[in-house]
Amino acid sequence: MTIQWFPGHMTRAKRQIEEKLKLIDVVFELLDARVPESSRNPMIDEIVGSKPRLLLLNKADLADAEATVRWSEHFRALGREVLAIDANTGSGVRDIPGRVKVLLKEKIERQISKGMRPRPARALIVGIPNVGKSTLINRLAGRNAAVTGDRPGVTKGQQWIRTGGDLELLDTPGILWPKFEDPEVGFRLAATGAIKEEILPIEEVACFTLRWLTKAYREALAERYGLTELPEDLPDLAAAAEVLEEIGRRRGCVGSGGRIDYEKASGVLLRDLRSGKLGRITLEAPVR
Ligand code: G4P
Repeated sequence: MTIQWFPGHMTRAKRQIEEKLKLIDVVFELLDARVPESSRNPMIDEIVGSKPRLLLLNKADLADAEATVRWSEHFRALGREVLAIDANTGSGVRDIPGRVKVLLKEKIERQISKGMRPRPARALIVGIPNVGKSTLINRLAGRNAAVTGDRPGVTKGQQWIRTGGDLELLDTPGILWPKFEDPEVGFRLAATGAIKEEILPIEEVACFTLRWLTKAYREALAERYGLTELPEDLPDLAAAAEVLEEIGRRRGCVGSGGRIDYEKASGVLLRDLRSGKLGRITLEAPVR
């Protein structure tokens, strides 16, 4: 799904989530474990306010496991409750209700002390497009329950979905916009496939990715494409373009006149990255 995010849409998306917040006890902020910071909405703290929140690092199956541990520690140090999950297979998803109980402990205890029977906690999933919101809703529901085709600005009736645990979920997730201002964020989101390729030149996305891979995952990169002379560092896009050319040569990405087809080579690299053929990769590290 492609959403054109204009200021009007952002205001409406924010307002819609704020409306939904009145109905719920806890927010599930869904992030992409490969790009936990870049997949965060820039206004999320302001939008969610003091509502209890659980950070879910989704697509952890594709992310570097050690990096996911570091990111989880980073968010915990900021006082957040975090869980790494894979909504596709359900790994980690079973732990969500337990984490919610921890987050809502005081509220639940208050209800009990007043002689009330605690009702199921009500949750809303929020996140940028493609982060896995519908997949997680369906996973928690155990069936196809997510309302798809949800767009900011379209109001429709919403329903509560019962999950196995003491948890109810709004069937319509909150769709948030990504950070547009920082070009590096755009490149990272494009590399994971969260931003469609037409928006950014694919060769630049590939070169940006190569610079990171050379630094952080050089063995996996060199091995996958048989790069025997991979430099220690790619200081700029031009240096990265040379490596891209070599990948193109080795993968037979040759265009008319025997020239290397950079676009094809970029496609090879990004497909390999997204499908996990380069291994489990995280594209950013927490700033200390
Ligand atoms: P959204 O509602 O937030 O927009 O995201 P959605 O659930 O539609 O998920 C987007 C894509 O991400 C889907 O792939 C989905 O299968 C995949 N996905 C969701 N969670 C996980 C996960 O934990 N691990 C992995 N590996 N993939 C996950 P898709 O239908 O193939 O779409 P696309 O890749 O063609 O965009």
